[in-house]
Amino acid sequence: MQARIAQMMTTSTASGKIILFGEHAVVYGRPAIAVPVAQVRATATVTDAPPGSGCTIVAQDIGEETRLAAAAATHPLALVLRLALEEAGIGAEPDWRFVLTSDIPIASGLGSGAAISAALVRALLTHAGQPAPAETVSRLVYRSEELFHGTPSGIDNAVIAYERPVWFVKGQPPESFAVGQPFTLAIADSGIPSPTKESVGDVRRAWEADPAGYEAIFSRIADVVHGARRAIRDGNLAAIGALMNTNQQRLEELGVSSPALEKLIDAARAAGAKGAKLSGGGRGGNLIALVDEESAEAVQTALVNAGAKRVILTQVGTAGIG
Ligand code: MEV
Repeated sequence: MQARIAQMMTTSTASGKIILFGEHAVVYGRPAIAVPVAQVRATATVTDAPPGSGCTIVAQDIGEETRLAAAAATHPLALVLRLALEEAGIGAEPDWRFVLTSDIPIASGLGSGAAISAALVRALLTHAGQPAPAETVSRLVYRSEELFHGTPSGIDNAVIAYERPVWFVKGQPPESFAVGQPFTLAIADSGIPSPTKESVGDVRRAWEADPAGYEAIFSRIADVVHGARRAIRDGNLAAIGALMNTNQQRLEELGVSSPALEKLIDAARAAGAKGAKLSGGGRGGNLIALVDEESAEAVQTALVNAGAKRVILTQVGTAGIG
């Protein structure tokens, strides 16, 4: 993912991600399963800038340019850049210009913030002539996720940094999992923003008001995630689909679904998807539907007719996954 040309320019990228099972409950110590989505990516390019100009972050898609020296401590990209400089052992601010672009829709559950941060960390470490191992990238990106999301589980930075499917439990290194038979997901963008910080905060307030009730839902979600791991290992597509539907029910109980998402989910199921659920923070953002060769086109069409802004097909379980 890195290319360095004559010490002058370094370009690094990071993929998007999608959570298959276990979002929200993963914040409370339950397991979750997520995969990278390679079709959408964030890119960071570092170039050497004129002496004395320091570090500049250019978020090209939104036309924002930030001088590191002038950036607030709470600026997530400035934070990740400072941490990466520290990690690289660079004390005095170098004269580097970081240009960031991304085709990952913002606030859609596809990990746009974590991917931009991951691309930035990779680009910086590589430009400094250092390795950029997944563990380091994940650790630094987590710090910026804290600013974006408040109390992140760490799953987004893990799946994006390791760029492989992960079985994830908060505070533990990500594990991989076996896929008995590759399967295809339609990822559909509702076009409605999914403010993860807000939905995670709402779940926290509800959990504080009714800890026993919410812990019980999280544990039922954990049962679904364990069942999904077995179904994925066994290549049992019918069971994977049924578990996606059960997980969606549980997410509705948590209060993170929405009528717009449910309309799209119903449309996907009616068109032949074996299962469908929201993915990520919820309320809006993306949903995933399990399709096969026969149903893929009909499900895609049904999702677009029901209002999806974009539908991506992604395979889980093949080389170059995502
Ligand atoms: C966001 O992609 C996934 C959530 O579970 C939050 C988190 O794990 O930090 C909703």
